[in-house]
This record gives sequence, C-alpha cells and structure tokens, in this order.
Amino acid sequence: MVACLRDKLEQIRPSLAAASPSSQFRRRRSSLMAPGGHFGTAAVAVVVSLAVHVVLNCPIQPVPSPTPPSAAYPPNNLLQGLEKLGEGQLSGPEDVYVDAAAGGTLYTATRDGWLQRMQPNGTWERWRFVGGAGLLGIAPSADGSMLVCDAYKGLLRVEEGRVTILASTVEGSPIRFADAAIEASDGTIYFSDGSARFGFDRWVLDFMEASSTGRLLKYDPGTGKVSVVLDNLAFANGVALSRDETFIIVCESWRFRCSKLWLKGDKSGQAETFIENLPGSPDNIHLAPDGSFWIALIQLRSPWIDLVTRWTFTKRVASSFPALLDVLKETGKGAMVAQVSESGEIIRVLDDSKGKVINFITSVTEYDGNLFFGSLSTNFVGKISLDKVPQV
Ligand SMILES: *[C@@H]1O[C@H](CO)[C@@H](O)[C@H](O)[C@H]1NC(C)=O
Repeated sequence: MVACLRDKLEQIRPSLAAASPSSQFRRRRSSLMAPGGHFGTAAVAVVVSLAVHVVLNCPIQPVPSPTPPSAAYPPNNLLQGLEKLGEGQLSGPEDVYVDAAAGGTLYTATRDGWLQRMQPNGTWERWRFVGGAGLLGIAPSADGSMLVCDAYKGLLRVEEGRVTILASTVEGSPIRFADAAIEASDGTIYFSDGSARFGFDRWVLDFMEASSTGRLLKYDPGTGKVSVVLDNLAFANGVALSRDETFIIVCESWRFRCSKLWLKGDKSGQAETFIENLPGSPDNIHLAPDGSFWIALIQLRSPWIDLVTRWTFTKRVASSFPALLDVLKETGKGAMVAQVSESGEIIRVLDDSKGKVINFITSVTEYDGNLFFGSLSTNFVGKISLDKVPQV
C-alpha cells in the first residue's frame, strides 16, 4: 500500500507542481483570467483534487483485465420460469448441496451465519449455527460432517455442537478468501482461496485489480497439512472432482475459464485448460449425476463495466470511489448457468438475461432431474425442471 502510494505520488508530482501558484502553468494561465478565469481555476482545482483523491485512496495496483469473450449464446430467459424455495428465509444462499442419500435434503449457507436445510417434504430448518457473514461453499464429508468455506476464517468442519477450523493459513500465508471445497474419496480436501489481496467484502477490487493471486489448496486429513496445488489464478472459485476422480477442476472467474489438474494417470500433477471463453465469470462448479458439470456464470458485464475495465487508469479511478464502484457493479445485471461435458464442451445454457427473476447466480446443482440455484443476491433457492431445457 505504502509502495503503491509512493509510486503514485511520483507519477503525479508533475501535475501537482503544475497546479502550484509558482508554476509556469499558473503564471501563463493568470494572464487568461477573468471573466472565464474563475471557471478555469475551479476546473483545475477539481481535477487536482480528484487526482489527489485517486492517489491517496488507491486500493488497487491494477494490471490489464482479460478481454471478455464476445457473446455467443442468444438470451433464452429459461431461468425466469424457476420456482422459489424458502423465499424470505434465506439471505444470500451462495452454494447449494443436495444429499441424494437422504432422499434429497437440500443444504445451503446463508449470510446470517446459519447452515439451513430443506427436508424432502419442503420443510426448512435452521440446522447448524456457524456465525459470521462469510459462509460460502459447502460440501459433505464422509464422516457425516459438513465442510464449509468461511471466506474470512478459512476451511471449517461443522459437526453437531462443534465448529473446527481445519485451515486458516497455508505455507505461512493467510487464507484470505476460502471459497469452495470438495472432499475426495481418500479424504483429501481440495479448496479454493479466491484472492491473496482482497477479502469477501472487497471482491470487486480483486476483479478490478485482476492481479491473479488466487490459489487451489489441499488439506491432508492425515497430517493436517495444507499445501498450495495451483497458484496465480485470476480469482480461484468453484472446485469439482471428475466422476472417477482422475482430475479436479478449479474455476478462474476473471479469466472466464476453468482449469483442470490431473490427479491420476500419466499426466498426474499437470494442469491444463478445461474450458475457456465461458459466457460469464465462472463461480461454483458441481458434478452432475451423468458425469458432466454445472457451472454458475456471474454476469460482470455491461457496456460500463467493459469500458472501465479496458484500461488500468480507469480501473484505478473507479476503484478509488466506493460509491462509483457500487453503481458500476449494479449495471451488470443478469444470471446464467451452463452445463459442460466431461471433455469441456458446453451442452446447455440457461439465463435470465436482464435479471428479472434472478440475478448473480453463484451455484447450480443437479438432483433428480431438477436444477437448484444459489445466489448472493436473492433470498431464496431457485429450482427448475430440466425436462424442457434443450441442448445447445
Ligand atoms: C417434514 O419432514 C421432517 C423430517 O422428516 C419432519 O420433522 C416434519 O414434521 C415434516 N413436515 C411436514 C409438514 O410433514
């Protein structure tokens, strides 16, 4: 931060000097004073104070953002036909897990710090209290407990009457943004740390900065050791294991792609692209019953967002004004999810192109011929039957 400020001060020193009364610029301009001169002085004062504001409030050290892919799927608004489950009782249910072995009990974590669940008969209950506003990805563990990513605390194991932090640091550095987890059949837990720079309440700054500090991490239940599996990810988000566990996928939101890391076979340890040019920023990814995957694609696109993210200068300016950033974020309306085959081809796309019924879908899970949607900006879990959803 200090370095960032110093760099910036060096860069604007000439313009500060230009604005000082002793400068040549000022002397030259004085002769042009009155009656338009007051306006000129005011304009210079505004520009200088804005420049100083940007320098002093520079929260990011931006690098160029990846170019967003051009739109490839015409809107179908199929998501507008969804049914709302638990409406009003669920605050920002980010992720959804359906327990098939329990006949379809559905779990989600909400902004009030609860794990809530819906019985197969439709009854909701506040199941387990964890606390905090940062509960994101949830995943079952073989021992019957629930693994929960608390963006602020790290990877948690939640049992009846007990919450254990499994991992809050890795190789000496803090886990700043635990996001999604999955447990392999050997007990290894893979989970993502979105950003080493900004936490959950400031994720938009990570999007603006685009500095790629996300990581895929691994927790070894035998030793309790946490290690880095992949790093330099442009926001590490959803994680999913392939059906036979030969590879794991991690989604990189700001690069519109998901990568896969081979866990078994000849290519074990090697990473490669699973899918790229996704029509949105991939959030959570979940394995479908047939071995394909469902990916939630957040829509951080609008003419304004595309414009601002085009240059590091505009990213720097927008990021210096939190209110401006909020307005900018709001221009990116809409929701989209995609089904992707095990070999990385898009099979189905569903959207609500203007976000009329649902916005900002962060997870999609298939169970028993239905899709269930989590979202950070709704107070319900969405449900839709796959019957009428055509393949692309
Ligand atoms: C729904 O199922 C739960 C768990 O089996 C049970 O406790 C509850 O009473 C049921 N509710 C209704 C309305 O049937």
